Amino acid sequence: IQAQAIDYIREELPEAELHVHPDEHASPSRREVETWLERGLDALVCVIGDTVDETLLAHDVQRRLRVISTMSVGYNHIDVGACRRRGIVVGHTPDVLTETTADLAVGLLIATARRFREALQAVDKPGGWTSSWSPTWLCGVDVHHKTVGIIGLGRIGVAVARRLHHGFGCRILYHGSREKPEVAAELGPASFRPVLDDLLAESDFVIPLCPLTEKTRNLIHAANLRRMKKTAILINVSRGEVIDQDAVCDALERGWLTAFGTDVTVPEPLPTNHRLLSVPGVTVLPHIGSATGETRLAMARICIENLVAGVKGKSLPHPVPL
Ligand code: DGY
Repeated sequence: IQAQAIDYIREELPEAELHVHPDEHASPSRREVETWLERGLDALVCVIGDTVDETLLAHDVQRRLRVISTMSVGYNHIDVGACRRRGIVVGHTPDVLTETTADLAVGLLIATARRFREALQAVDKPGGWTSSWSPTWLCGVDVHHKTVGIIGLGRIGVAVARRLHHGFGCRILYHGSREKPEVAAELGPASFRPVLDDLLAESDFVIPLCPLTEKTRNLIHAANLRRMKKTAILINVSRGEVIDQDAVCDALERGWLTAFGTDVTVPEPLPTNHRLLSVPGVTVLPHIGSATGETRLAMARICIENLVAGVKGKSLPHPVPL
């Protein structure tokens, strides 16, 4: 993917001098990026693990940076206010990862409800799978025909709701800043819950699918977890910071929540001795929501299209609202 992205930049911007970190699976250090900025950069590509804040941007002493292009739909790692003040445009990669992330969300929901983590560990561990079948061993909970509460019926929210309603017969509730009859109609219809507490109290599965903002940080905190059914399962594929992880661990340990499946954590990567990994009922994936070859290639393509447009002084195909 990286080689294709570089070829595409070279085609579009043959004169460009490129600084590329040699390891495709790692980001350059902050110091390295600071040095690039000090020497003069027109454009910067980043991913969600790279924090682009005011302090970093201050290293653009020549005020040359024109565009920042993130290979992600989320842009909470970029201080967009600081970019606006410095006249830097920001691009991101919406739409192309919607269906792939929705597939993963549903997969994680099933894996969590049906206890895949424990089941896989049992198969791998000598003596873990002792009798071919037993009536109550590894019993989880059903997914089909349950009530699913989606917080944030945006692109990914709709894609997840569609799968769960049409594929599994689930009833969909949603909460957000406004009612969306135009998208809710094809989902049963999905029922709007203007008060978050009501959605939490009624849902068997709760899935926040909202971007991380100051309003949604720690949205699922201790008090909100107490509003959920004890039999509820919480699934997170948005950002780790939307959920108070410690409160989730407490709720699981006290039996106030049945299970938690998450593709996003604080921090990332999650240390192997982290509390989350020792609490029963937790399934953690390493932020792979959009990780398919097809989708990552599409994201890389859009990321470079944004970058090239920004360098050429054209409007970005997928700008972040500043
Ligand atoms: C995004 O794009 O924001 C995802 O979290 C990573 O694919």
